[in-house]
Amino acid sequence: MKGSRLWRGGLLATLAGDSGWGLIEDGALLVEDGVLRWVGTGAEAPAADEVVELRGALVTPGLVDCHTHLVYGGSRAHEFEQRLHGASYADIARAGGGIKSTVAATRAAGEADLLASARKRAQALMAEGVTTLEVKSGYGLEAPTEARMLRVARQLAGLGVDVRTTYLAAHALPPEFADADDYIAAVCLWLPDLFDAGLVDAVDAFCENIAFSPAQVARVFDAARRLSLPVKLHAEQLSDQGGAQLAAGYRALSCDHLEYLSPAGIQAMVEAGTVAVLLPGAYYALRETQLPPIAALREAGVPIAIATDHNPGSSPTLSPLLMLNMACVLFRLTPEEALRGLTVNGARALGLRDRGQLVAGQRADFCVWDSAHPRELAACFGHNPLTERVFQGRRQGE
Ligand code: NIG
Ligand code: FE
Repeated sequence: MKGSRLWRGGLLATLAGDSGWGLIEDGALLVEDGVLRWVGTGAEAPAADEVVELRGALVTPGLVDCHTHLVYGGSRAHEFEQRLHGASYADIARAGGGIKSTVAATRAAGEADLLASARKRAQALMAEGVTTLEVKSGYGLEAPTEARMLRVARQLAGLGVDVRTTYLAAHALPPEFADADDYIAAVCLWLPDLFDAGLVDAVDAFCENIAFSPAQVARVFDAARRLSLPVKLHAEQLSDQGGAQLAAGYRALSCDHLEYLSPAGIQAMVEAGTVAVLLPGAYYALRETQLPPIAALREAGVPIAIATDHNPGSSPTLSPLLMLNMACVLFRLTPEEALRGLTVNGARALGLRDRGQLVAGQRADFCVWDSAHPRELAACFGHNPLTERVFQGRRQGE
């Protein structure tokens, strides 16, 4: 797109400021060079080279899915059946299934196959308005396959979505290692080369009794710190490991899952400015009953993000819109909190401040919906009202 373009006559849910929808009726957006240059009412709008009439449609910031495991081989639908027969997620993991079964399938898959399947998944997310997507490694658990996953993730950017990559080799203990401490040493050793190759934007780990201890995670975070890489953590999903306090000590961008988060963990996150990423898809699919401490997070002022956590085991969803609904129904978030969670706070969980609100100076990543009010996006489910997705100012096909 050359020159400036004015989008006018829409209902803008700007999410400007720290709370509220930031609604602008008869709203207009001026876009130039991939950036929102001006946001306001149609009556005050500046002139532009081109005008697009929104005809009353709803406009929101583009969706930010800040936690996915989108690149992998194989399927784990059989584990869904096993869980229906009474096995738990942890039982399946201890019996060698779970993450380890996806590791075997991912190691066996070539780069082209991994890319082909990941592209379809990314396109499904984009079809519901995702403009920024985080993708984790963690199904290779060996240097070449971790690198392959991260390369595939980078290539997804060619679809017209911004991709942030996260190194999650500390996800599970691979079969060739008997000792978790030895494996953690390898995880730390592989990181600098992957970083030098431009494949890593952040570092994550799975802190859990079926995964790695806080002391082991600390070694991975020390390796990240040596490269000035930000960290995130799968924390307190199945039990309280004190992972949030550990992560906050490294000024983590986010702690994710958090069903078993303690008051001390919340306090540490407040002090560090760490975002709480809630993953209703995993909570739902694993039929968890322990709710994350939403009221306490809210009261403490911890920013809350939500994400799909797309992965083949605990959250095989490709619907960010369904996550909006589940965040409200299961976690009692308000529709506004849920939408902030999937936009501005999702961006913050990735360390990004240039997107997530319809405010002058932000990236021109936005969605146009056939909806009368933004609360409808959370209230409805199994329905996709997206009519247009604009990425860096570009319309579909531009
Ligand atoms: O975020 N909790 C650990 N990691 C993923 C699940 C990965 C898997 O089961 O393959 C999660 O839920
Ligand atoms: Fe995850």
